[in-house]
Amino acid sequence: MDVAEPLVRHPRDVVVRVTRSAICGTDLHPYRGELPGFAEGTVMGHEFAGVVHEVGDEAPFRAGERVFASDVVACGRCVRCRRGWHYQCPEVGLFGYDTVVGASLPGGQAEFVRVPFADVVLERTPDDVSDEQAVFVGDVLSTAYAAVSDAAVTPGDTVAVVGAGPVGLLAAVCASVAGAARVVLADPVPERRERAADHGFEAVEPGALSAVLHTGAADGAERVIEAVGSDAALVCALHAAAVHGTVVAVGVHHSAATPFPAGLSFARELTLRFCVGDPIRLRDRVLALIRAGRVDPATVVSHRLSLDEAPLAYRAFDRQEIFKAILIH
Ligand SMILES: NC(=O)c1ccc[n+]([C@@H]2O[C@H](COP(=O)([O-])OP(=O)(O)OC[C@H]3O[C@@H](n4cnc5c(N)ncnc54)[C@H](O)[C@@H]3O)[C@@H](O)[C@H]2O)c1
Ligand SMILES: [Zn+2]
Ligand SMILES: [Zn+2]
Repeated sequence: MDVAEPLVRHPRDVVVRVTRSAICGTDLHPYRGELPGFAEGTVMGHEFAGVVHEVGDEAPFRAGERVFASDVVACGRCVRCRRGWHYQCPEVGLFGYDTVVGASLPGGQAEFVRVPFADVVLERTPDDVSDEQAVFVGDVLSTAYAAVSDAAVTPGDTVAVVGAGPVGLLAAVCASVAGAARVVLADPVPERRERAADHGFEAVEPGALSAVLHTGAADGAERVIEAVGSDAALVCALHAAAVHGTVVAVGVHHSAATPFPAGLSFARELTLRFCVGDPIRLRDRVLALIRAGRVDPATVVSHRLSLDEAPLAYRAFDRQEIFKAILIH
């Protein structure tokens, strides 16, 4: 599809020439029609890296610099931004997601993309970090890291991760880096479980998760991360938790009323929190993990395709034939 080339419209804007983008599980929600009213013709894509093309007067970048964007756009100056609550900024946006989160902002699965508040949203890509790795810092790896951080994973913990997609798998990797003694992933798809096992993790069907965790020797997972975004997954996560455990839901939830095991949660005195990844706040820490060689997000890439092949990539990703696709622009 041809669209107008984006231009600098505000002094804090930067236009980026995209070199790499990715398709995310979040993109599947509109793709599957789960978001009624999502505008047809929306330029998708909130995970991208590239090169500075055009710079607004107040944006601290130079043409030609390698950069990546945070998926979440925020002003960086309001009361909430100053508290680090970028997702609750009155000017919040999500690239390529129509008006689901703030005002519509064309995404990065395109040749060029306009990045507002570039002094906040855009970051330079260090020389020893590839564009492909940087794409992950702009969302999925920072999101996985945020979940592990919000769950307060500490050395020796048993951690359960519900959903072994890219977010879940990278959350498992981050949990290991944080010192988890045991990490168990749950996913209904055998290939997803095999991939998790290839990364050295235990992997079970969701229906078996609670039973493998609550045994004579063990009493559930102290930290549980739900990385699916469905009612069933959230309930599964709550059942996996140990007494006084923490469950972090990082899957995107759209449900107006989730069946909730309140009795179980009360009896175990669980903490449940929801988590939106925040690359603006976390990218420095995540970049440091990559540069130290402790996490390499490229290990979860299953397909590298050209931008022209995006329709095919979406179809295959929807059918779970693709684990994580990087689009080469
Ligand atoms: N909070 C954030 O900031 C943020 C950022 C990125 C992605 N997400 C969300 O995280 C979720 C995962 O993203 P992804 O890219 O890994 O998506 P994905 O669709 O590739 O992976 C989801 C996985 O969950 C599995 N699954 C489905 N139902 C399940 C169940 N009941 N129990 C266990 N596993 C189940 C699927 O088989 C799949 O492997 C999505 O909801 C996405 O929107 C959130
Ligand atoms: Zn994403
Ligand atoms: Zn703000």
